Amino acid sequence: MKFDTPAGRNPIDQQKVIGKPTDRIDGPLKVTGTAPYAFERNDVAPNHAYGVIVGAGVAKGRIKRIDAADALRAPGVLSVVTYENAGKLGKAKAHTATMLAGPEVEHYDQAVAIVVAETFEQARDAAKRVRVDYARTKGKYELKAVKDGAPIAKGDKMKTARGDFAGAFASAPVKLDATYTTPDQSHMMMEPHATIAAWNGDELTLWTSNQMIAWAVRDMSETLLIPKEKIRVVSPYVGGGFGGKLWVRSDAVMAALAAKAAGRPVKVALARPQLMNNTTHRPATIQRIRIGADKAGKITAIAHQTWSGDLPGGGPETAANQTQLLYAGDNRLTETHLAVLDLPEANAMRAPGEAPGMMALEVAMDEMAEKLGMDPVRFRIVNDTLVDPEKPERKFSDRNLVRCLEEGAQKFGWDRRNPKPGQVRDGDWLVGLGMAAAFRNNMNMKSGARVGVDRKGMVTVATDMTDIGTGSYTIIAQTAAEMLGVPLDKVVVLLGDSRFPVSAGSGGQWGGNSSTAGVYAACVDLRRRIAQKLGFNSDDVTFADGKVSSGNRAVDLAKAAGDEGISGEDSMEYGTLEKDYAQATFGAHFVEAAVNVYTGEIRVRRMSGVYDAGRILNPKSARSQVIGGMTMGIGAALMEDAVVDPRFGYFVNHDLAEYHVPVHLDVPHQEVVFLDTLDDKTSPMKAKGVGELGLCGAAAAVANAVYNACGVRIRDYPLTLDKVL
Ligand code: MOS
Repeated sequence: MKFDTPAGRNPIDQQKVIGKPTDRIDGPLKVTGTAPYAFERNDVAPNHAYGVIVGAGVAKGRIKRIDAADALRAPGVLSVVTYENAGKLGKAKAHTATMLAGPEVEHYDQAVAIVVAETFEQARDAAKRVRVDYARTKGKYELKAVKDGAPIAKGDKMKTARGDFAGAFASAPVKLDATYTTPDQSHMMMEPHATIAAWNGDELTLWTSNQMIAWAVRDMSETLLIPKEKIRVVSPYVGGGFGGKLWVRSDAVMAALAAKAAGRPVKVALARPQLMNNTTHRPATIQRIRIGADKAGKITAIAHQTWSGDLPGGGPETAANQTQLLYAGDNRLTETHLAVLDLPEANAMRAPGEAPGMMALEVAMDEMAEKLGMDPVRFRIVNDTLVDPEKPERKFSDRNLVRCLEEGAQKFGWDRRNPKPGQVRDGDWLVGLGMAAAFRNNMNMKSGARVGVDRKGMVTVATDMTDIGTGSYTIIAQTAAEMLGVPLDKVVVLLGDSRFPVSAGSGGQWGGNSSTAGVYAACVDLRRRIAQKLGFNSDDVTFADGKVSSGNRAVDLAKAAGDEGISGEDSMEYGTLEKDYAQATFGAHFVEAAVNVYTGEIRVRRMSGVYDAGRILNPKSARSQVIGGMTMGIGAALMEDAVVDPRFGYFVNHDLAEYHVPVHLDVPHQEVVFLDTLDDKTSPMKAKGVGELGLCGAAAAVANAVYNACGVRIRDYPLTLDKVL
């Protein structure tokens, strides 16, 4: 089914099940430790051995010699796989770094070997006995050292301009020219990358932890040089991904190679330090922002230039994305530069682009408001736009930023803020209020599903969609229940298996709207088939209360399914509505922060926001997504920082003791309000993504509150106490 005209009224609009704050179906499994994660699938591979990956000890260079003799003699060892005996491998187009080094080493901790043994302890012990000699070459590891001269990414394509920025900025009566930096960040999801690989002849099955099942099949096929049809990927439960599991990594590739070599299924989990140096990270950025405005606060010129680095052939952090769309202004410029660095692969982390981009832009907006002597909420309202400011003929599909700002300010008590920093004291603490807009693009992805009804009236949905902690199981069940007129407990949802129809997967906050739209399409097909089978006119057939009705006839859904059951299958594809309209999600964050007068310690005391993301399919799981994003925003503002050792080119603080993320004590009560909007240009669900929105702008709101509290403007994240004092 193709979605190419705005959605009219449809069964989802009934909102009997959709839109209700429903508990997550997988919640009890997850909190009781009974959801089977990839590494725990002992049922599927009882005879499995363990693999431990040996990572490169240099960041750049060449392997001169690998000596595995000692490791092979160690107790319990079954095999050691390196580039010398792995056979011919390809490289997936989606991978920047190769998953097995040799003879070249592209980054520190890149896999150079996997040791397979009977037990995990034996494999780990033997891994330490693999000796690798390297010829080390000099690499580049610091963004600030390579920034100058770094070209605009994609052969100059990542540049946008309109009007005459330079002229308008030069003549603006009020202006700001400031540079901000954000550090490298690591996903640090709870469940590390983990895989069990098993071969049956030439067929490979991977029980793994992955966000995008069809991409995983494709990338394994391109790496192992075997047909996609020979690969099955299973990933029904994922303990967090944040973009780090968008693509298969070394755990999956090395487990497959190890299982082949050992002639047994092999289990591999990356150790916590490997998450940071063996997989991917969000790259550090340097961002220069210039804003010029007239005395009334209207932006006349705005420019955002951003720099990040990646391995050769990699991509940039698209931190100027939001600046292309968020505020009005006739004269504009954005440039996204990319430098070559020899750090581990830079890649997507939750809201790639907007997350670090908003950390800079929304502090710049706060600085401009202060220069103008304007309230920061007011400054944003004055510069709102209902059209794409780079292409004014293109409207937003739906945009309610002003409502978010006004309602958020009112709910938070923004009028109590003293615009002069450093004025409010509570004992040993200086207290301040700050705010920022929230903005994240909305993307829609083709997504398919199969939906069946059996003779007992049970509905089963199957799709290769993943639930990475987001609530996919639940919103998909709600969608099928709404479409087929049955209660939620009559729906079974099966996810995360490449044998099911290909879905949108989980990424870029497209999963919620796109995967449910795919289920909608499959339900439309199923409803048509049922109507046809009953001889009903499909135009006036209704599905409600477990019955299929048309005119004065009504048949139980179970009866309609018959002894053999009935099923439908389809996918939702998208036309040009995404190009014709700018589709995005919006919000306003408000934060109260306190800074200790003596120690500089920063505490977030209150955090709330109002968000506009179209129809909210499940207010409970959507709220969890947003508070998760806000929490990540506290981490980005105050603690997350993957520290580069500039001599050896690796992230030093590679565990959760040293790479800090917020804990409960760091997170205050958070309030989330959703606007009751519908966006009929996104899909028949009229929903948009919400999984990344809560992060975008949150860190800037914290930074702005810290400034209001103590009067110290910090432009280099994270805001640690040494920068306040
Ligand atoms: Mo998201 S960073 O696209 O999983």
